[in-house]
Amino acid sequence: MSDHPVIIKDENSGQSLELPIIRGTEGEPTLDINSLPASLGYFTYDPGFTATASCTSSITFIDGAKGILRYRGYPIEQLARQSNFLEVAYLLLHGDLPNCSEMDAFEHDITYHTMVHEKLNTFISGFHYDAHPMAMMAGVIGSLAAFYHDKMNMEDAEHRLLAAKRMVAKMPTIAAGCYRHHMGWPAAYPKNSFEYTERFLHMMFSVPTEGYEVSPVAARAMDLLFILHADHEQNASTSTVRLVGSTGANPYACVAAGISALWGPAHGGANESVLNMLDKIRDVSRVGKFVNRAKDRNDPFRLMGFGHRVYKNYDPRASIIRVAAHEVLAELGSNDPLMDLAMELEKIALEDDYFVAKKLYPNVDFYSGIIYKALGIPRSMFTVMFAIARTVGWVSQWLEQAETPTRIGRPRQVYNGTGERDYIDLKSR
Ligand code: CMC
Repeated sequence: MSDHPVIIKDENSGQSLELPIIRGTEGEPTLDINSLPASLGYFTYDPGFTATASCTSSITFIDGAKGILRYRGYPIEQLARQSNFLEVAYLLLHGDLPNCSEMDAFEHDITYHTMVHEKLNTFISGFHYDAHPMAMMAGVIGSLAAFYHDKMNMEDAEHRLLAAKRMVAKMPTIAAGCYRHHMGWPAAYPKNSFEYTERFLHMMFSVPTEGYEVSPVAARAMDLLFILHADHEQNASTSTVRLVGSTGANPYACVAAGISALWGPAHGGANESVLNMLDKIRDVSRVGKFVNRAKDRNDPFRLMGFGHRVYKNYDPRASIIRVAAHEVLAELGSNDPLMDLAMELEKIALEDDYFVAKKLYPNVDFYSGIIYKALGIPRSMFTVMFAIARTVGWVSQWLEQAETPTRIGRPRQVYNGTGERDYIDLKSR
């Protein structure tokens, strides 16, 4: 690409404006339009932010056309194969992989903060037994602001990092607490002798009456899924965390907002919707009918777990999860007919002109639910799994923003309501 500046000309006023080009280390060149309103008197219109970079960031890089995802420069495939979730968490938070002593210290810090205040369990038990766990998570994580707000100095980098670590540490404890409340089981306390995902599985499934052995296959599968979900640059929930953070709000409140954004079926809620959809399809013979429905503009039905705003190629996370799903099912000796159904659906959709033309491929949520199901995670908890993993992305992005001069996020609008009119007294209307 040449280095000529981009000049826009307003044919109405005859004025021109040279727009600086911002070039990151990788990715598309980006026009800096900051001076546009003051210079030419125009705003820009970009609903859904399809053409807008809201910040600069050095955490995660995606090349959607090539299907590339990197955390801090490391390809997701290498991290998935060679790293573990806690090491990836360190990488996202601090920018580089830790050495041995840094890793030990980080593991110690996270482990040390896994317990929650006992009053928080009272908070969880206040919910009705059938409350959706994502609703509980948003409420309970938001309530952490009430536990830590006064002691937190947002100007202090150490305080900010501590809040970030607390959230990474406590999220599994709270998630398991929400599940156990639904089941009517007593709260389980984090056993610090376990590693991160083992500890979580133990809190999820152990009961006081009998021993519970954490399956290494399950722990490794969960760890892999957590790595793959850990960050994804400026997606809807991360942008929400940043937007709330830009007001100076407490970080626990920011993450609670991120959880709410994640819950929607167009975002993290898709993993739950994929299995609901596969249930509805029921049989391989009915796949074609549902693919046709997804193509019908007059039918609101979409193939859940398909399509992505950024990836116009196979989502690299989906490729990894697809292989892992086969391995996990084989290792656990389970034969899930939903896996066959999902594969048939993928095959038919990937050969279909509609999906080919629109570059719609399976995304991270397409196969993840099949693994969660094999691990015994109930469907309503799928998006909670996503939230546990994404917490490290949210807090890394929040920390990065807090360390960068930031203005409050405040988009504009194109007003298309009524023009000025005079108030008329109620009796005269
Ligand atoms: N099934 C059928 N058609 C689809 C699908 C789908 N899953 N996704 C997109 N399209 C069509 C859409 O109708 C539109 O067609 P047209 O150009 O004729 O209007 C075109 O493809 C572009 O779609 P869009 O909705 O404008 O694209 P977007 O970037 O705004 O939305 C998306 C991206 C992920 C919300 C969307 O693809 C979707 O709803 N997918 C299903 C839900 C899903 O799996 N979400 C998880 C996303 S990945 C993980 C995460 O973010 O949490």
